[in-house]
Amino acid sequence: MAEPWQGKRVLVTGASSGIGAAVARELARAGATVGLCARRTDLLAGVLDDCRRSVPACRSWRVDLSDTAGLAGFARRVEDELGGIDVLVNNAGLSLHGAGATMSWEDVEYLTRLNYLAPVRLTQAVLPAMLSRGAGQVLAVSSMAARLSTPGEAAYAAAKAALATFFEALAAELEGSGVGVHLVYPALVDLTPGADGDDALADTEDGTLRVPAPVLARAMLAQLEAGALELYMPRVMAGIVTHRARDVPASVSFMGELYRAGALD
Ligand SMILES: NC(=O)c1ccc[n+]([C@@H]2O[C@H](COP(=O)([O-])OP(=O)(O)OC[C@H]3O[C@@H](n4cnc5c(N)ncnc54)[C@H](OP(=O)(O)O)[C@@H]3O)[C@@H](O)[C@H]2O)c1
Repeated sequence: MAEPWQGKRVLVTGASSGIGAAVARELARAGATVGLCARRTDLLAGVLDDCRRSVPACRSWRVDLSDTAGLAGFARRVEDELGGIDVLVNNAGLSLHGAGATMSWEDVEYLTRLNYLAPVRLTQAVLPAMLSRGAGQVLAVSSMAARLSTPGEAAYAAAKAALATFFEALAAELEGSGVGVHLVYPALVDLTPGADGDDALADTEDGTLRVPAPVLARAMLAQLEAGALELYMPRVMAGIVTHRARDVPASVSFMGELYRAGALD
């Protein structure tokens, strides 16, 4: 049987916790040489130890991705020290709750920089080498908030929607180049350390179920292996997006009712 991840060099952002840590562990278990990055070095060290048990060449870097001016240099450093980047997983991100009318401008700017500008900058930095090789994959973790324009998270949802739109346009631009572009739309994810579950949870009909991060991580590896543009988690959310597109005003009103009832807190 083919071993698709053996020897692949994968940079995972936001690998110190949650989805990114789960993706890094699953990748290393599958044989990939994983580069991990985030700010919390104590947590990164723990995830790196787990990854190195499978692939000793895995490495980690401390980086603040909100410092977008430093990201081209960071990408060069990772390429040098990892020997190249075959796959970039843009996972790092942050949600801040707050009404669109009153969220501070500093928070709006920060959410935009971290959730949209940083992954775009990093992707632009790694693409030239991938395109010259005619091979590579770039993935971005967006959010169902982007597809549902979730009230109470307007700035976060908008940044994740911008990310999705950029990656969709990029996918169209890069068709036939050998470089794959991928998007992930998680709904609610169970980030409890150590939490795992059956992969069948990805196919639950219950869109409110918190899918454990490792289940999502394994689905992301399968998505990359299959070359699929989109992954909704749980998968039932794809149908909800289609349904919403048929009547956006009704969906906006419905979300407003849920918001005012406190059902989205
Ligand atoms: N959890 C959900 O239900 C859910 C749903 C939809 C989408 N998502 C998306 O999934 C992605 C992963 O989030 P998560 O749920 O796994 O939460 P998490 O455990 O808080 O992980 C976020 C990761 O991003 C990193 N990060 C945050 N700010 C950073 C910065 N300035 N520089 C570098 N790294 C930074 C964090 O590392 P440090 O703090 O160590 O820097 C951490 O590793 C995010 O993009 C999030 O928006 C999550």
